[in-house]
Amino acid sequence: MSIEIDGNSLDVKTEKLNQLKELFPEFFSEGKLNIASIKQILGDEEIAGQDHYELGWAGKAEARREVQRQTTATLLPDREGSINFDTSENIFIEGENLEVLRTLQKSYFGKVKMIYIDPPYNTGSDRFIYPDDYAERLEEYEKRTGQKNGGGYLNKLDLFKKNSKENGRYHSFWLSMIYPRLYLARNLLKEDGVIFVSIDDNEAHNLRHLMSEVFGEENFRNSFAIRRYDKNLNRQFIEQGLKSFNVGFEYILCYSKSDKFSFNPIYRSSSENRQNFGYWKGFWNDADRPTMRYDILGYTPNDGQWKWSKEKALEAVENYEAYLSKHSKTKTLEEYWLETGKKLSFIRRNPNGQGKNKGVENWISPSDGTLRNTNWTDLFASKDDKEFSGLFDFAKNVEVIKNLIVGSGSGTGDIVLDFFAGSGTTAQAVLEMNKEDGENRNFICIQMPEECDLESEVYKSGYKTIADVCSNRLRKVINKISDTNKDKMDFMQSKQSLGFKYYKLAYSNFKKWKSEIGSKEELLKQFEIFKEPLATRPTDSYDLFTELLLKSGVELNAKVERRETDDNVPFYIIKGGQMIYALDSLNNALLKEVEAVKPKVFVTLGNLFTGEKADEQITNWKLQLKESGIEFKII
Ligand SMILES: C[S@@+](CC[C@H](N)C(=O)[O-])C[C@H]1O[C@@H](n2cnc3c(N)ncnc32)[C@H](O)[C@@H]1O
Repeated sequence: MSIEIDGNSLDVKTEKLNQLKELFPEFFSEGKLNIASIKQILGDEEIAGQDHYELGWAGKAEARREVQRQTTATLLPDREGSINFDTSENIFIEGENLEVLRTLQKSYFGKVKMIYIDPPYNTGSDRFIYPDDYAERLEEYEKRTGQKNGGGYLNKLDLFKKNSKENGRYHSFWLSMIYPRLYLARNLLKEDGVIFVSIDDNEAHNLRHLMSEVFGEENFRNSFAIRRYDKNLNRQFIEQGLKSFNVGFEYILCYSKSDKFSFNPIYRSSSENRQNFGYWKGFWNDADRPTMRYDILGYTPNDGQWKWSKEKALEAVENYEAYLSKHSKTKTLEEYWLETGKKLSFIRRNPNGQGKNKGVENWISPSDGTLRNTNWTDLFASKDDKEFSGLFDFAKNVEVIKNLIVGSGSGTGDIVLDFFAGSGTTAQAVLEMNKEDGENRNFICIQMPEECDLESEVYKSGYKTIADVCSNRLRKVINKISDTNKDKMDFMQSKQSLGFKYYKLAYSNFKKWKSEIGSKEELLKQFEIFKEPLATRPTDSYDLFTELLLKSGVELNAKVERRETDDNVPFYIIKGGQMIYALDSLNNALLKEVEAVKPKVFVTLGNLFTGEKADEQITNWKLQLKESGIEFKII
């Protein structure tokens, strides 16, 4: 293993060109893409002509260039804001999402199973980051994206502007805002990953076009309809002339990363049923086929019919009898059902049942019930959830997202990402779904520290930013789940990482190398500046360590062990000993420890070698580590 630590986020253009080169080396000559040879090899019919089908908007070229932009930004761990920082694998990031998506490109490329986002719908009154001045200097941009704001949160007026329908580039601005974010988000998806995006009539048509461009038309899976609360404006509209009906539903568009994705079937069963892991139900169907009126446990109906084929019903009777004879004294039906891991069905006698339930009944597992289609109007898109998000106006319905989580086929070890996190509904859905089905998924939620409206209920209750609202909601949900499980030896809960790591988008800890160096003098000045590579020395070397992890493409959840030598020199061992980082100081005791662990790579800072003999020491360390087969990286 060789790691490249480059201070920048992933160079998306080079990465894509490399992928193309791997697939089609014949398209390249002397390292450059050769359009003429592409045309020759593929023939004219495969090449789009001047007139072709494409979504165009003012600023599209700039939006594409935005994708190429790299950042040197990092994420700063905030241990105090976190819960169980060292053991939890959930991540909450406070920061502007385009910058954060860039910082995650190296470490999370191809690692996310499911993305759900609920971006601003472009209603004409919502605000978002204006992509209207791509030519602005980086300095300005950084100020605008909040990285420079020492106060910790952003000045909403500077950053967010209202995009009103009167604006001549009303759709273009929105498209330019969403395009680079979706593009970078796609990079993060696994091959069998999937993305769901909430949207309404304002941009549904454009979003569909745009997503087909970014994800490929062939990866469009579905457009779901979700119910909206009626606002009862019709009477007023009627009086004024009915220009349009009240909008009764909105959409969730779904695209996969590739054809490797398949849905997990989802059923119209309520969350209570899921929480109870199934329930008994009459084994009856409203149809009336005589061939389906057979004998089960001594009952043969005279009219109507049983629900399943006789073969399946008999098997379900046998399953239940096997459970009764072997396990009923030690396990509940739920435990048995979970333990077998199979979707077992059961039928038992029900002599006391009333009406149709008299006779027999069957065990409905969480996966039984009516298979969902794309009509989800039985569920509201948003929901007042007094306990957790009641104060936040735009909160989505947890139940909808839980269905998506199950439908995505996500399970233990999978990452669910939401980069327009708002009040944190997706995070809550992940935590609750894990509790319900015993899987251990992790979330990454990104939310900008947008100031809460001064007139809003949330602001009046003491939350300054929406990021505060989100992180506090996470704390509440986690506390509630922990409290409910306190007295129980809950065998599923023990697997879960109840907690979250809190990070904040921040400037790099390292000095930025000036890219345009005009003269030898300037170059020498740069070398002088870089004798001390750190812009500021953080009080905790874990900050540096986090940045190096991100920039060397290692996940934030990589297993980290902090050790110290006998004379208190700290070092970090990651991935069970594959890499060691020493970022505080160096001495011989440390060198011995490194040799004993024998990682593949040892990373340290050049300026930790001090004094006149620094260069000589570096050479010695390098040689000694090389002898032990350890790669030596200096930053
Ligand atoms: C419609 S809300 C999402 C609501 C969320 N689904 C919930 O249930 O609470 C969109 C959120 O995205 C945030 N947002 C908008 N632009 C952003 C950006 N560039 N970076 C990070 N967050 C952003 C806004 O602050 C807002 O809270």
